[in-house]
Amino acid sequence: MNILKIISAAALLFLGSGHAYAAGDLPTKFSNRDSISNTRHNMTQRQESGGGPSGSIMDPYRNDYEDVCIYCHTPNDVVASVGLPLWNRTMKATTYTTYSQLGTASLTQPVSQPGLNSLLCLSCHDGQTAVDSIISMPGSGRYQVSQETSQDNAFLDTWNNTRGPDATVHGGLKMGECLVCHSPGTFVGASAPDFRVAMIGTDLRNDHPVGVAFPQVNGPGTNFNTPWGVEGTTRYFDSNGNGTMDSGDVRLYDTGGSAKVECGSCHDPHGVPSAGPGSTFKPTFLRVSNTGSALCLTCHIK
Ligand code: HEC
Ligand code: HEC
Ligand code: HEC
Ligand code: HEC
Ligand code: HEC
Repeated sequence: MNILKIISAAALLFLGSGHAYAAGDLPTKFSNRDSISNTRHNMTQRQESGGGPSGSIMDPYRNDYEDVCIYCHTPNDVVASVGLPLWNRTMKATTYTTYSQLGTASLTQPVSQPGLNSLLCLSCHDGQTAVDSIISMPGSGRYQVSQETSQDNAFLDTWNNTRGPDATVHGGLKMGECLVCHSPGTFVGASAPDFRVAMIGTDLRNDHPVGVAFPQVNGPGTNFNTPWGVEGTTRYFDSNGNGTMDSGDVRLYDTGGSAKVECGSCHDPHGVPSAGPGSTFKPTFLRVSNTGSALCLTCHIK
């Protein structure tokens, strides 16, 4: 490693977090093991078995559908207009301030509005839409087409929580709703963890660029490693060399145009085991743990 490499590796260590806030996993009552059901992406906020948060305190703020997948997916009556995986969430049209609007002189690749594989995440994390704003609720006939693009609280109010009081507020991750309890917080006893960091908003200038094209010229002698796969498909960095795209593989999405970095490139919203089945998940839903900047160095040659 020459001195330049050492300096830039140190710079990458400093930039260890993909975002503008403190690095490290947030404290959680979930075990982060075995299934998304035992992570904070379980919007019932109740761990599947043993321990975990009780969820009941949140009942007045979001519908408890008693089903983990349904906050994001449903087998029937899905958003059919765009290429999303059995997607059940309201996708509000939003114009984001992109990283390129920051105007750094070093960026060489074009940056577009976030692609589909970022919009999925932003449907909660931009704070515009409630976590319980879904198109198809459990049970037959509980489907509302207009929910595809716009949150309709009258429709959401038709749901009755069986495990606690009904929701009177359908909080997004907005100031004054979820954040009324979740900021600033200390995770002691029954108090709510501070999750202002999860509230990314619509200004993406302070995060690693998404919707950014991966350089087509890559490999030894360039600044980027070469992903597997062919141009025009989802390409990936095969971390275990088994020739298939596993959840622990960093990936580049091509939804038309070129292979791009999106939220799903670095994060798997279902969690990825650290060391085989039964182990705790890698922190922060990352596909590759960022210890020693391993995540960053999957793409960047530095
Ligand atoms: C280039 C990789 C990369 C991309 C792209 C990316 N992230 Fe991250 N994200 C990270 C890393 C690294 C962390 C910090 C993890 C840690 O330090 O434990 C992080 C942390 C987070 C956190 C938790 C905040 C914190 O500091 O703990 C949230 C929420 C998050 N990301 C959401 C998103 C969303 C939504 C997108 C798309 C808009 C996205 N990320 C795109 C790498 C990325
Ligand atoms: C009235 C206060 C209050 C409101 C409002 C609230 N929460 Fe909570 N939340 C809590 C408390 C207290 C805990 C931890 C206690 C427990 O349930 O064990 C918690 C825990 C959580 C957890 C588990 C965190 C973890 O990793 O351990 C999640 C996720 C969560 N809340 C999401 C939400 C969302 C999403 C909203 C908005 C729709 C929301 N909360 C609104 C009080 C609140
Ligand atoms: C918090 C939202 C969320 C929840 C809850 C969720 N998913 Fe997903 N799921 C996603 C997103 C986002 C993607 C697309 C990932 C990407 O962009 O590559 C996805 C993709 C998938 C895929 C296809 C790609 C893959 O990773 O295999 C399957 C299968 C899937 N989910 C199953 C489930 C099941 C089963 C559950 C419930 C146990 C569930 N998901 C719960 C967000 C969620
Ligand atoms: C259904 C709403 C929803 C969707 C969709 C969703 N999230 Fe989340 N996410 C949340 C909530 C609520 C939290 C909890 C905040 C907390 O407890 O700190 C959270 C927490 C996180 C965290 C913090 C985890 C930690 O332990 O520090 C990361 C990272 C994250 N989400 C990334 C993503 C990414 C990436 C996607 C898309 C692939 C995504 N989320 C999709 C609602 C959602
Ligand atoms: C999935 C691939 C991928 C991963 C993982 C990744 N990056 Fe990037 N990164 C890119 C691409 C593509 C660009 C745009 C390069 C360009 O425009 O020349 C970029 C740009 C950057 C830039 C330059 C921004 C500018 O304004 O010039 C920095 C700094 C950076 N990444 C740091 C990181 C760090 C730190 C990590 C780990 C948390 C990381 N990257 C992880 C693909 C990735």
